[in-house]
Order: sequence, then C-alpha cells, then structure tokens
Amino acid sequence: MTDTYDLIIIGAGPGGYVAAERAGAAGKKVALIEREEHLGGVCLNWGCVPTKTLLASAKAFYTASHGEAYGVSADNVRFHLAKAMERKLSVQNQLRQGIRGLMKKFKVEVIAGQASFTDAKTVSVAGRTLTAPDILIATGSRPAKPPIPGADQAHVLNSDAILNITALPKQLAIVGGGVIGLEFACFFAQIGVKVTVIEFLPEVAPSVDAELAKTLRGELEAKGVAFHLGTKVERITADAVVAKGASGEVTVPADMVLVCTGRTPNSDGLGLEKIGVELRRGAIAVDERCRTNIPGIWAIGDVTAKAMLAHVASRQGEVVVNQITGHPDHMRYHAIPGVIYTSPEVAGCGLTEAQAQAEGIAVTVVKWPFAANGRFLAEYSGKGFLKAILRKDDGRLIGVHAIGGAVSEMSFGWAAMIEAEFTVRDIKELVFPHPTVNEALRDAVFTLH
Ligand code: FAD
Ligand code: NAI
Repeated sequence: MTDTYDLIIIGAGPGGYVAAERAGAAGKKVALIEREEHLGGVCLNWGCVPTKTLLASAKAFYTASHGEAYGVSADNVRFHLAKAMERKLSVQNQLRQGIRGLMKKFKVEVIAGQASFTDAKTVSVAGRTLTAPDILIATGSRPAKPPIPGADQAHVLNSDAILNITALPKQLAIVGGGVIGLEFACFFAQIGVKVTVIEFLPEVAPSVDAELAKTLRGELEAKGVAFHLGTKVERITADAVVAKGASGEVTVPADMVLVCTGRTPNSDGLGLEKIGVELRRGAIAVDERCRTNIPGIWAIGDVTAKAMLAHVASRQGEVVVNQITGHPDHMRYHAIPGVIYTSPEVAGCGLTEAQAQAEGIAVTVVKWPFAANGRFLAEYSGKGFLKAILRKDDGRLIGVHAIGGAVSEMSFGWAAMIEAEFTVRDIKELVFPHPTVNEALRDAVFTLH
C-alpha cells in the first residue's frame, strides 16, 4: 500500500523540521522522515546547540577565574566536564521535546528510518511506500574525512565524537582552523587545555574578513592557543601530529586530535542517481527557489552546500513551503549573518571589503574601535572593532563585520538594514539604545561628514 501526502520531507534538521512546521501550519499533510533517534539534525544534536552550551560553560569558568579586573576574585575555581555535559544534554532534551511538540501540534507525521527514492514521486522508508507531488530533501551533511595517515586511531575525533568525551585531553591538536576548529580551540583553551591549531591556509577562518580573522587569532593566542599556519598535516601518530610548513617539519604533541576540515553533503544513499537529480561536487544543485532539476523535488540546507548554516537551511525550507502553498518566494543570500561563537565573537553580514572589490563595487569602509564604546569598556575586555562597508555611488550599506564581546546579537540589526537598503543618512537618523555596543555602527558612519 502507498500512503499519500502533500509533502514528504527527508531529514529533520533545522531545514526539514522548520519546513514541516510551516507546511503543517498551512494545513498540508506532511510526512517528516528522520533516521536518527532525535529530531533536530546536526544543529541540535552535534552542532550549534551543544557547542554553544559547552562554550557558555567554558566562558563561565574563564570569567570566574579571571575576574580580578572587575573586582571579583575566587579561589579554587574548577571546571567539571561531566556537569557541563549534563547541562548540554538537558538543553538538548528541552529543545528536542519542543520540536516533537511542534510536529504534534501541526499534525506532521514523523516517520523513523532511512529514506530513499523509488521514483521521482515515491519514497521508501522502514518497509513503507510514500508518495507526494512535492518531496523535499533536507539530509544535511557529515564531517569530511581527509585522507591523513593515522586518522583512524581512537584518539583522533571528529566534531561529533568530541562532544561526548568523558575526560579532557592534556594536549589537543586541531586539524583545520575554520569555524569548528576555532570554536573548539576557544572552548578547550578557556578551560585550561593546551591547544594547537594546524591550518593549511595562511590565515584562520578563511570565510571571514581577513583583518577580523587575524585579530581573532591574536585574541585566541592571548588565551594560550598556538597556531601553525600555512602548514599541511602529513600524518598522525599515537602521540603527535606531524605537519609540514614553510620552515620545515613541525611535530605537535597531542593525546587527542580533532579533525575539522569541512563537511560532506549527505547526498548519497538516497537513490538520486536513479531519478537523475543533478549534483555539483557532491552537493544537490538548486536554483534560488531551491528547485532541483527534477520538477517536484526540492533541496535545502547543508546538502545543497549553499551556506552550511542552520538559519540558511530554515529560511530555504520556508521558501519551498511558501511556493508549494501558492506564495512566490526565493532565497536572497546577500544579507545572511555569519558568526564564530568564540570569545571574543566574530560576526559579519553582507559583503566584506575584499568581496566588494572582487565584484567590482567601489566602496567606502568606515571603522570604529570598541575601545571608544562605553558599553564595551564596561562589559568586556580584549580587542574589538566594527567595519561598515558602504557603496560609494549611493551610500547604501552592503556589509558590516565586527569582532569583540557578543557581536552575534548585533548581526540581526545589520541584516535588517542591508535588506532594507539603508543608506548613510538612514543610519544617521536611526536612534540606537545607549549604552550598547550597537552604537559602534552609528559612530562609524558619523566619521563620514
Ligand atoms: P542537518 O542538521 O544535517 O539535518 C539533516 C538530518 O537528515 C539529520 O538529522 C540526518 O540524520 C537526516 N538524514 C540524512 N539522510 C537521511 C535519510 N536518507 N533518511 C532519513 N533521514 C536522513 N550553524 C549555525 O548556523 N550556527 C552555529 O552555531 C553552528 N554551529 C555548528 C557547530 C558544529 C560543530 C557543526 C558540525 C555545525 C554547526 N552549524 C552551525 C551548522 C549547522 O548545524 C548546519 O548548517 C545545519 O544543521 C544544517 O541543517 P540541515 O537541516 O540542512 O541538515
Ligand atoms: P571550514 O570550511 O570552516 O574550515 C575548514 C578549515 O580546514 C579550512 O580553514 C581549511 O583550509 C582547513 N583544512 C582543510 N584541510 C586541511 C588539512 N588537511 N590540514 C589543515 N587544514 C585543513 O569547515 P569546518 O570548520 O569543518 O566547519 C564546517 C561548516 O560548519 C562551516 O563552514 C560552517 O558552515 C558550519 N559551522 C558553522 C558554525 C557557526 O555558524 N558558528 C560553527 C561550526 C560550523
């Protein structure tokens, strides 16, 4: 027997479950298929939520042990890994329950199992056959496995496995200085583990503004993290990582190694080759409306490798549901906030100066140091600044990038201003709350007379 739905969704991450919620709320009959025990995908189970929860524990420990400048001193401050892990689990469980509740509320049928296509309108899962005019692939991604000799040893972990350790390493080597590597470097360094990051490129965080990346590296160095840049890992032994840089071979002692060199889209095992869905370098190719080359088959989130971020996956899901329910919609990628949740945080939205130059857009760049911001000085320590990127021709804001304190919370405002095509004048006329770090944007723009 074949069960018929309006929409079948494969994968219950922030792409799939948000799409299911929106489609259910619009009265559609939805099946949401997930092969793991818990809904929420990588984001809730191995990504955004557990890492931010652990980072909050590390920040609390670091603040408690470095409070002297604020007039606070404490003796014998200790970090309890098991307690931090317990808190992580309780945050996850609360959110897992919330998603289950939402699926129930919107009458989404959640089906456990590994789904694969039988034909372009039919999916098989757990011995059942389901059909729908629209099928949404939201199967996410998994850690990439670089072919490094020795990477299959028990002490070499990926970002999933390191979230479940029961004892801290003494010396952690991190292969890959991207977003995952830097967030874990910050977590472990703040709780006193000796951390060394080995990055293939000349600077960490290749996806962010170069000046911000360099400043973040300096701030992490100040917390004790060592970096080997422009260095290629050659092999991992029982107690070290052996790499080669411009000045020769480097041996980094390590009793634990984290490999985080990017992620691979989960486009395999779905039977996509049978129905002719087009892939590009392993990712499902989609247009700005999240359509694949096969009518009625849509794809969103990490499996499309457009931008491997939870909020992108969710918005893409909404774009698909809007179209299915008769409301034309498409993705706009020019104002998507990106954050590295280290201490200090790095956040950016829109074009960097280098990206604007590469696109041939003439820009004015204005900068404001947080050393001149009252709230920043009251609340935070370390370095911080903000850069705004404005078009030279009409003064429109096309990018904001900042490092310092908790800039992640500011990036929503930048996205709103970029989407609304705010100009220098609009920003000057907007009232910002005082004292907040947000004011740095206004101050930066007022340097233009
Ligand atoms: P996923 O979350 O990967 O979910 C896909 C789901 O599909 C999974 O549950 C999987 O089990 C299921 N699935 C796959 N194949 C099948 C199948 N054939 N049948 C049934 N089910 C299937 N992003 C942010 O925006 N902010 C952050 O702070 C952040 N931190 C991160 C930290 C780490 C350590 C990692 C690894 C990632 C982080 N990300 C963050 C990225 C974020 O987790 C992903 O971008 C997001 O989860 C992608 O959502 P998705 O719905 O596309 O896929
Ligand atoms: P990444 O692409 O951000 O960084 C990988 C880094 O590893 C790059 O700098 C690359 O040059 C380096 N590298 C690759 N091969 C190497 C090798 N053999 N030796 C040394 N260095 C090597 O990928 P990452 O950190 O794995 O994260 C994957 C994605 O997950 C991110 O791009 C992001 O989309 C998402 N994510 C988002 C977060 C957030 O929003 N805060 C947090 C964590 C992950």
